[in-house]
Formats: sequence, C-alpha cells, structure tokens
Amino acid sequence: MSGGKSSIGGAATGGLSSTGGISSVGGASRGGQSATGGSNTATGGSSGIVGATPPMGWNSWNNFGCSPSETLLKGVADAMVSSGMAAVGYQYVNIDDCWMSGRDSSGNLVADASKFPSGIKSLADYMHGKGLKLGIYEAPANTTCAGKTGDLGYETQDAETFASWGVDYLKYDHCNGGQMASFQKMHDALIATGRSIFYSINPVYGSGSCVPPTCSIDEAKLSNMWRIGFDITNTWASFTGLIDTDKPLAQYAGPGHWNDPDMLEVGRGMSADEDRSHFAMWAILAAPLIAGNDIRSMSATTKAILTNPDVIAVNQDSLGAQGTLVGTAGTNLEIWSKKLSGTNARAVALFNRSGASASMTVQWTQIGLPAGTATVRDLWNQKDLGSFTDSYQATGIPTHGIVLLKIVSGS
Ligand code: GAL
Repeated sequence: MSGGKSSIGGAATGGLSSTGGISSVGGASRGGQSATGGSNTATGGSSGIVGATPPMGWNSWNNFGCSPSETLLKGVADAMVSSGMAAVGYQYVNIDDCWMSGRDSSGNLVADASKFPSGIKSLADYMHGKGLKLGIYEAPANTTCAGKTGDLGYETQDAETFASWGVDYLKYDHCNGGQMASFQKMHDALIATGRSIFYSINPVYGSGSCVPPTCSIDEAKLSNMWRIGFDITNTWASFTGLIDTDKPLAQYAGPGHWNDPDMLEVGRGMSADEDRSHFAMWAILAAPLIAGNDIRSMSATTKAILTNPDVIAVNQDSLGAQGTLVGTAGTNLEIWSKKLSGTNARAVALFNRSGASASMTVQWTQIGLPAGTATVRDLWNQKDLGSFTDSYQATGIPTHGIVLLKIVSGS
C-alpha cells in the first residue's frame, strides 16, 4: 500500500476521513486507522494495526533503574521464552533510561559501550531471533529524566537511528525542560521511517497531569499509548491511586490508542493478593502488561500471576474496550466491568479495597446484561462455576483481593 502519511494513535474522538491519505507503512497501518483510511471504532476490529491490543512485555526501569545492559536484556529475553511468558503473548523487551553515552561527530546517538558492547542493532537481532521485539527509551528534552542524552532537536535523526537498528517500540518521556511539540515531531519522524514502531509517550511532567481531553497534545491521535500519572511504585497506595486516575478515561482507549497507568509491579514485594488485584485491574483497564520484576528469578506464584491465560485474555480482548466502575457493594468494595468481544460477554472484577474480607454480589443488570441465566467462569482459577440467575455472589474475598469473572448471558 502506498500513499500519504499515516497517523499513529487512532481516533478516539472521531476518526479520519477516507480521503485523508491514510496509508499503511511497512506492512501495517498505524494506530487506530485502517489501511484504507476509514475511522476505527472500538467495535470495528483492528488486526494489523500497531497496538491493536495493549502491549505486553518487560521494561528495565522498575527493577534495575539506571543500569540496563545487554547481558540483562538477553537474560530477560531468554527467561521470557523459557518461563512461558512469550507463549502467552509477552513480546517487547524494553530498555529504559541510561542506555546511551552521547552522540558521535555526526550527531548520531551512541549506546554506552560498557553496558551494550555489541550495540543496539545486535540486541534487536537477538530479540527478533527469538520471536521477540526490542523497545528503547528517549526524552524530548536536552537530557532524559536520569540526566542522560536527550533528543530535543534530533527527533528525526533519532527516529531514523532507531529504525535502522530494528527497534520496535519507543518510550518517549517528557523531562527536564522538554518540549511538548516534540511529541508530534517524533510521531511524524517515526511514520517517515516506514517501520512499525509502537509509540508510547509520557507527557506528564511538571503540572502533574496531562490526560485527554485537556492535555495540550491529542494523545489518542499521535501516540499508541500515553502515561496518565506519575511513576508507579510497589505499593497498594500507588497502584490503586493510578486505577482511580484511569477510572474516568475509558472513553479514550481503544485499538491502537491506550491509557497507560504505568508498568507492572507484580513480583516486587506486594502480597500475592495485591499482585493479583494489580494484574487483574490492569487487565480490566486494558492497560499495558509490561512486567517490571526480574523475570529471570521470579517465584512460582509471580509466574502464575503473570502468565494466567484467562486473565491475559481479558486484557487482550479484540474489542479493545477499557473497563469501568459500574457499582459498589459497600464501602471500598468495587464492581468493575469490561465489555468483551462476542455477544453479551463481560469480564467482571469484584475488587475488595477494604481492610477486611468481604462478600460481593454482581447483578447482571449492573453490567448491561439481561436478567435471567448467565454462565460464570472464575478466571484466576480457570474454572467454570456454572449457570446463575440474575446475579452472582462471591464470598470470602480477602482484603486487598480480587475475584475476576467472565460472565456470558444467553449461552
Ligand atoms: C520517568 C518515567 C519512568 C522512567 C524514568 C527514567 O520519567 O516515568 O518510567 O522511564 O523516567 O528516568
């Protein structure tokens, strides 16, 4: 396919006209636009676009901070395959900040040779050889958040460098006097490379909030994913706070353009119940599943959480709807529902944010299903629970725990 420029993010707020010159680049159209330029709604189906479902992978920052290296990244790639993570959909292995040492005399970005002695292209080849993809990090500023070489003024040159290395994912992180205009520049530069590169941006800096529809840039149109808040930490308060920030933003998410409440903290010190709640809510919110733990040495419990295929299927559902809070069953007892593809199908989270164990009941009418019979499946336990009339009650949900269900009526 040929033609004019494509757009990355997709159209949460309207779509592009079929005369807009939208084309696919490098074999796949970007964001939420179809290759023929029609608008793409969350019900339209979106195979073939970049980020048709939320990205799944791993990133070095949460566990390793400013110390990524090719040894680490290769070990993580090996573990992604041997642990079974790749088989359930994880594919991006992402280098965060601190991979670069500066620029050469031509202005080209140079990797820190002490951390990446074989260079980034070689690392990308390694990932591709395993059926995985490589992600990288930069900042639209003079320096990155960790004070390393930024790419203000070098957006086009750096996009070309990333494409020439075979990079598949860019995290572009507002920091240190960065320029909002660079987000569009980088979008255009990535499109111009002709390579399919998932474009993940973080416009949140200084003011503390930059979410649709008030952010000065149209995140859903120019990126595949945008951070909605400050950095996640491995605490209950942090991940529940990000859930609350994401709660009113569901309408902006869809195939090719996702809200990003940040990377996962599963396996980094919270209780197993809290880790399950975190992961299940990221599934309900159609959030990125970018692991942040050391997957080379994770426990069996952590591995089981990160690889549960039924929970991942909620996140990766092709409809691409972000779930919403539909009701409460008491103080801090939240009922969330995510519309799934197919007829009358919902993923439902019964989320106990209270300080004691609890029973919770979901009514079919709360989640937009007709009264009558519906089948219920327990997704964490991968077990069909049977057919129920009008409602379902879960008992003994532990404090900070969650029950995740798939409910289908008329079946
Ligand atoms: C922050 C960002 C983190 C990490 C860090 C690197 O701004 O939110 O996820 O990328 O910069 O310095």
